Amino acid sequence: MLVAMDDHGSHADHHDHDHDADPDYFEPAGWEERYAGDGSVWSGDPNAQLVAEASRLTPGTALDVGCGEGGDVIWLARQGWRVTGADFSANGLARAARHAQEAGVADRTDWWQVDAREFDAAGRSFDLVTTHFLHPPDAGMVGVVRRLAPAVAPGGHLLVVGHAPSDHVTQLTESHRRAMFVAEDLLPGLPEGFEAVVVEQRPRTTVRDGRSMDVDDSTLLARRRS
Ligand SMILES: C[S@@+](CC[C@H](N)C(=O)[O-])C[C@H]1O[C@@H](n2cnc3c(N)ncnc32)[C@H](O)[C@@H]1O
Repeated sequence: MLVAMDDHGSHADHHDHDHDADPDYFEPAGWEERYAGDGSVWSGDPNAQLVAEASRLTPGTALDVGCGEGGDVIWLARQGWRVTGADFSANGLARAARHAQEAGVADRTDWWQVDAREFDAAGRSFDLVTTHFLHPPDAGMVGVVRRLAPAVAPGGHLLVVGHAPSDHVTQLTESHRRAMFVAEDLLPGLPEGFEAVVVEQRPRTTVRDGRSMDVDDSTLLARRRS
């Protein structure tokens, strides 16, 4: 069975992207198109590893990079965080802002159109920087970690979650497989002053096409000491 790169259990599982036929899958144009129509791409539920880790933290300021339709942003805002949702898709951000409005948390959220591959914190810092299932191709996630780290305030945390390579994804192209990672792969992107708190693949059961399947969330949680 094929696991779509964007299948992450807590979200809608009805999107069968033909990755081999979609070279724009990881580029803004592909995501603008995906978010252009009516109807949600994702369930709106928060991601499991975000709930597991952020629930242990004291709410402060947060940045969610690749926020999509805002499910994680809204959950964080409801927990008392002040959240910036960032994504390179204007359509995605517009949906996220609408969902935050409908959820009654618009006053705790703001939005930032950025490409994570060129991210520059521009002097802003956050108590939590989080990103789920971004998957820039060709091992680009190490560079993204390197760029996101300076946005973490001293004493704050960086949480990065993605799909671990698995037998389920053998039908994907080589570049899609290279976009997947295990948490250890990301460690070279952590600058001095960070300590890794969680570096592991966390099993999760998801339902796809009505069938239950096991996947692993590659999970890196790092704390900035100084
Ligand atoms: C698989 S979706 C995950 C959405 C959200 N994090 C979630 O878990 O529901 C990936 C999201 O990241 C965004 N994205 C992908 N590559 C990006 C990049 N290089 N910079 C910023 N956003 C990106 C896409 O527009 C999309 O909204």
